[in-house]
Amino acid sequence: MKYIKDQENLEGKVILLRLDLNVPLKNLMITDETRINKILPIINFLIKKKSKILVISHVGRPKGKINNDLSLKPICENLERKINQNIKLIKENIYKIKKDDLFKNSKDQIIFLENIRFYEEEEKNDTNFSKNLAELGDIFVNDAFSCSHRAHASISKITRFLPSFAGLQFETEISALKKVTTEIKKPVTCIIGGAKISTKIGLIKNLIPKFDNIIIVGAMANNILNYKGNPIGKSFKEENCISIIDDIFEAAKRNSCLISYPEDVVVGKSMDDKAIIKELSEVSNDDLILDIGPKTIKKIRDIIEKSETILWNGPAGYFENPNFANGCFEITKKIVEKNEKNQIYSIAGGGDTIAVLNQMNAVNNFDFVSTAGGAFLEYLEGKDLPGIRALN
Ligand code: 3PG
Repeated sequence: MKYIKDQENLEGKVILLRLDLNVPLKNLMITDETRINKILPIINFLIKKKSKILVISHVGRPKGKINNDLSLKPICENLERKINQNIKLIKENIYKIKKDDLFKNSKDQIIFLENIRFYEEEEKNDTNFSKNLAELGDIFVNDAFSCSHRAHASISKITRFLPSFAGLQFETEISALKKVTTEIKKPVTCIIGGAKISTKIGLIKNLIPKFDNIIIVGAMANNILNYKGNPIGKSFKEENCISIIDDIFEAAKRNSCLISYPEDVVVGKSMDDKAIIKELSEVSNDDLILDIGPKTIKKIRDIIEKSETILWNGPAGYFENPNFANGCFEITKKIVEKNEKNQIYSIAGGGDTIAVLNQMNAVNNFDFVSTAGGAFLEYLEGKDLPGIRALN
């Protein structure tokens, strides 16, 4: 793999820079800026090198359709304020853009392309689309480790058409995760939560041989609760997961890995509701499970107490509503408590998990915080990530 930090002669070159600016948005407002802060080093590095920067990123999952609620505009404006420099956002169709028109105005140094997932070709890793994108620049830099588990055009196929390099944040994340996976101290516990069930449920089985405990929380746990015969009301769940969950429990037995999931829950009738603690059997048809209950919190705290390493990806509940943030807060508090006594090595990953830690002012109380969620888990699984493979 080649690193952009080692490259000379970047002056005047158009750098196609893939970033992960997939920040949480509520009514077009950014609710956590960590991912933007993390790209400042590469932006400043390229500004210093006098390169022209053409940013490619996505936010959300627009599924190949233009969706104004998922425009990069608020992110662009946020970055403008942070670096005190004008940034142009171009909404023009990528197939119509000409490279020579891009930086015509000599004052332009940073240009954003609009959300790359507005094009269905992106997620299809389409060759022609990748070629078109590549024609807009001289060099490709991937500084989006957190997207590198996706075989998408602006992560993977584009590297066929341009000299390609790993960015600064990419390098930091890979070296930290390499260290973690080679020097890991047992017992190791992995907490997996969040709402991206389809991304994560399939990989739990492969994580089982590596860990002593896997704690499944958040919307992820609804499928397990349902599988075990518990009512889950109108809570989020993924369809057709029975055989995946069969495999998870079989693999756990074979590998002596303890799988934990909620023993009680906190429900609401809607996401904005108040919290009601319920036993699993009490969940009614119109309930949404939105957090873990006190018995579950106690169990998780006990497991953390006995762990030497903890990896955490995905919130335990709908923490955006403070009524359902208790599970996340209690997990964070316990990890921080152990960390302060130097009794645990702690790693957290993923946009939402970082948002939880920021709310609790606990980011600096973890040994390593990765911007990556799904990519973090797939790297731990030992998978060959498409973004890494492409750079190699
Ligand atoms: C993330 O948030 O993990 C990355 O931005 C990738 O997003 P995705 O899960 O929608 O591909």
